[in-house]
This record gives sequence, C-alpha cells and structure tokens, in this order.
Amino acid sequence: MSKRKHLVAPSVLSADFAHLHDDIVMVNQSEADWFHIDIMDGVFVPNISFGFPVLASIAHYARKPLDVHLMIVEPDKYIKQFKEAGADNITVHAEACTHLHRTVHAIKELGCTAGVAINPSTPISQLHEIVDDVDVVLLMSVNPGFGGQKFIESTYRKIRELRALAAERNDSLLIEVDGGVDNHNALALLKAGVDVLVAGNFVFAAKNPVHAIAELKRMTPDLISV
Ligand code: DX5
Ligand code: ZN
Repeated sequence: MSKRKHLVAPSVLSADFAHLHDDIVMVNQSEADWFHIDIMDGVFVPNISFGFPVLASIAHYARKPLDVHLMIVEPDKYIKQFKEAGADNITVHAEACTHLHRTVHAIKELGCTAGVAINPSTPISQLHEIVDDVDVVLLMSVNPGFGGQKFIESTYRKIRELRALAAERNDSLLIEVDGGVDNHNALALLKAGVDVLVAGNFVFAAKNPVHAIAELKRMTPDLISV
C-alpha cells in the first residue's frame, strides 16, 4: 500500500488561442504539474487542433513538462519532430499503431517518456503486452476529438482493472484519465487509482482557472491502494 500524490495536467485545447501566452503563464503560476497538449490530425479523430510551430511556442514559455497526446495516424513519422518541438512525454494511441512496441521504444530512445492511450471502447486487455514498457497509460474517458464532453462512467471499471494490472507488472506506471474530468468526479477517479487528472473545460472555462487547478490538486483520497 502506498500513497502517491496525484498530478494535474490542464489541457491547452481549451485555452484561448488568441491569448495563449497568458494561459501558459497562468498554468506556470498555478499548482498544475504538466501541460497536456492535444494533437489531432482530422483522420484519427474528427477534428484538427495544431501542430509543431504552436507546440514549439508553448514549449518556449512553459515551465512545466509537456505531456503530448497524439491523436494521429502513423505517429512514428512525427515523434522525432514532436521531441524537437519540446515534448517531454509522448503518448500514442494503441488503435493508431500497428507496431506499438516499436513505437513505444522509439519514443524512449529519443529521450522522452512514453505513453499509450486507449479509447473508451478499447479494453484494458489490449495493454497486456505493453504495460511493462510504458511510463504512462492514458485512459480516454470521452471519445477523443473535442473538449467539453461528458465523462463516460464505465471508465471507473477500466481504471480499477488497470490499477490491478499495474500492481502486478509495472508499479511505477502512471494512470492518466482524460475527458470530462471536473471537481465532481476527480475524487472518485483518484480513489479508483488515477495518478494524473487531465482537465480542459473545467480549468479554462472557470472564472478562476488557478483556483480550479488548486481544487483538483487538493483532492485527497484517504487511501490510494496500489
Ligand atoms: C479530447 C482531448 C482532451 C480534452 C479534454 O480528445 O484528448 O485532452 O482536451 O478536455 P475536457 O477536460 O474539456 O473534456
Ligand atoms: Zn488529451
């Protein structure tokens, strides 16, 4: 049994892109741990976000690690460029990788930590042969593509199943949950075994984003069993 302090990663997708610098400074000055950066290609997901120049600009001002979530097909083609643009962690979707083991190790060879994301309809069993190799597993709790969607409740079951798998196979694994996270479900997510809370709309649509981040950060489950 161990207690680990959870991390909070505001999702820049919900920031005001015309005033991105202000939002980066806000996150720098907040209790947030990481910047969560969503890259969408319009093929893997039905939306397009932004690419290398924007990521490099964020990296220039960010004073916290950049957690880059690639919602793109053929990520192998671009991981080096994402590293060069400033990514610290690179997460790829299992559904987008034919040779997931190769992709994960290519990310690590670049000097980044490596994450694997799965969609709501993808079972935890898909991670069985990769869980030892990754630093992060990102569980999508909405269908990827957009901020501000409703949290999918079956995610709790997947978190518990993954927590049990991690206890057996990879004790340092970080379990990240992404989509529809707010002050109503954060505590239950932490109790189920989450290490990293991603929050877009809850942070950036808040009257006071710094307070919203602090609220997520101060949630303290009595016991996180691992
Ligand atoms: C969705 C993205 C999420 C999104 C989260 O495809 O991966 O990171 O920005 O936003 P909220 O917290 O608003 O659901
Ligand atoms: Zn994301």
